[in-house]
Amino acid sequence: MRSFVVTGVTNGLGNELIRLFHELNIGKLYLLGRKIHRIQSVVKSAKLYEVDFSKLDIDVLEKLMKDVFRKITNNDEVIFINCAGVVNPIEFVENITNDQLLTSFNVNLVWPCMLIKELVKEVQKKNCDFRIINISSGVAYKPLPGWSLYSTSKASINIFLETLAQEKRHYKIVSVDPGVMDTNMQREIRSVEKKDKEFKYLKDFREFKEKNLLVSPKEVANKILMTYVQNWKASNSYEKISMYNEE
Ligand SMILES: NC(=O)c1ccc[n+]([C@@H]2O[C@H](COP(=O)([O-])OP(=O)(O)OC[C@H]3O[C@@H](n4cnc5c(N)ncnc54)[C@H](OP(=O)(O)O)[C@@H]3O)[C@@H](O)[C@H]2O)c1
Repeated sequence: MRSFVVTGVTNGLGNELIRLFHELNIGKLYLLGRKIHRIQSVVKSAKLYEVDFSKLDIDVLEKLMKDVFRKITNNDEVIFINCAGVVNPIEFVENITNDQLLTSFNVNLVWPCMLIKELVKEVQKKNCDFRIINISSGVAYKPLPGWSLYSTSKASINIFLETLAQEKRHYKIVSVDPGVMDTNMQREIRSVEKKDKEFKYLKDFREFKEKNLLVSPKEVANKILMTYVQNWKASNSYEKISMYNEE
């Protein structure tokens, strides 16, 4: 039996992924997110956990992992998909507030690392196969003015996972750049209008939308399904989903 633990499922790519998994009935779904009840009617059989990743709460983490683990049985295959993410603030370093810094790192880095660490302990105990699909970004290794927090957190989780892959060579682990997708995150990027002069590349994102160049999250979800869930085609620790054709 397969068990999926997925974050970032209330919107965008994560939401498309779990709709697919639900339709195909390919495993048990454990879904984590803010105001998670919003998706109850979409994925009726899923187990939903209300978590706001901007707040670091070890008690909540431990309680929810205990509950998930109770349901995972020996020799299950566990697939963790880390899809939750925040891009804001898009701001020069000196203007970033401490709250923004903590939120960005908590959502993009700290919570997923803590979840992975707990999952590793449990899958070892239960002799489960383990797969991690980390939704990364093209800017993980590309410094852009204004994106210090987002890039730092995306790059850091990639290296965390590359290290884990060295420790546990039998796990299947990939960080994947999904491309520029037509989701709320892109809406947020386009709405940083007043900063056009400071961050010149922002106009490129607006042009992507105007010229209809954004990728649909549904298409990306399908590719992830075929590339890393139904099969395992990853040949690098970090790769772009655009290198795979939809089947
Ligand atoms: N869109 C792009 O062009 C693009 C490009 C490269 C990489 N990515 C990556 O792709 C992944 C999916 O992004 P997307 O484009 O689908 O973005 P999205 O539509 O904005 O969805 C982001 C998801 O993360 C969740 N999230 C954000 N803050 C949270 C918090 N504090 N606690 C719990 N959940 C939280 C959101 O929940 P709420 O519904 O509660 O807000 C939502 O489910 C992200 O990791 C992003 O970094 C996106």
